[in-house]
Amino acid sequence: MSGINFFTTRDLEKIEDFYLNELEMELWLDQGECSIFKHGNMLLGFCQGENEHTQGVITFFYRRKEHVDEMYEKLSDVAEEEPVENENFQIYQFFAEDPEGRTLEFQTFLHPVDPYLGGEELLQGRRSVRDYREKKVPEETLLNIFETCRYAPTSRNSQSYYFVPIEDEDMIEFLSKRRGGNSAPIRKAPMAVAICCDPEETGRPKQDGDIAAYHFMLTAWAHGLGTCWIAAMDRDDVKEELNISEDHYVATVTPLGYPVKVPETPSRKEAEEFVKRID
Ligand SMILES: Cc1cc2nc3c(=O)[nH]c(=O)nc-3n(C[C@H](O)[C@H](O)[C@H](O)COP(=O)(O)O)c2cc1C
Repeated sequence: MSGINFFTTRDLEKIEDFYLNELEMELWLDQGECSIFKHGNMLLGFCQGENEHTQGVITFFYRRKEHVDEMYEKLSDVAEEEPVENENFQIYQFFAEDPEGRTLEFQTFLHPVDPYLGGEELLQGRRSVRDYREKKVPEETLLNIFETCRYAPTSRNSQSYYFVPIEDEDMIEFLSKRRGGNSAPIRKAPMAVAICCDPEETGRPKQDGDIAAYHFMLTAWAHGLGTCWIAAMDRDDVKEELNISEDHYVATVTPLGYPVKVPETPSRKEAEEFVKRID
């Protein structure tokens, strides 16, 4: 199910200017007398009317404290006061007003939250993370990730992949040293996960394993967790140490943890450059 919250406004043009330019929402749909804006998974509609609806609170939430601070820098002239921690709700927040006096709240949660990202934001926002906070990954979060990973596609629905969670510090140290700088990010995280595939259960162990690994990385990101594909970990020494049969395929061993910060997006080619049309 999806939804939109609608408000009436006396001045659609002024509201458009504020929500698009100041709050950097996107115009999701222009219906003429109504405009619908998008911020992450939130859809907000404003329709021209005789008077304005101003009741309630419109809350924007962000992945990290720094994003709330950035919004405060932008909106300090319409903000009530600087961002503060609210222990009651374990959030970091500040309040501001839109041009018609609606209360706006900008916040981040100071505890893990269940997934909320929309598909595009998830696919475009995932980054390879190489620097992690010490905070452990809660067992419940890990189980929720594995629950979603049941839905990865596999050849003939073989469901041939499996995950090996690794928390032992010596094991993490061992793994992080396998491939020099390439595998070093493993040491920075509180845990790692090997994503493997059993060739006795599928004719396509590499494809099944690689897809499951990417499925895992996206699901982890949806839960606020970072990962990083570490290549060429399908090695005898890794399998021996992790007690994985030598004929099994190890797609990757990824670090897993909460990012220190979300890395900048590395440059990407234009969409058309990825497409080779047949003349
Ligand atoms: C097949 C593959 C192998 C990779 N190997 C490594 C690696 O060994 N070590 C590492 O730190 N990152 C590795 N990466 C991560 C890439 O460097 C990263 O995906 C790329 O720079 C784009 O950044 P992004 O993932 O943040 O979009 C690998 C990624 C892929 C898909």
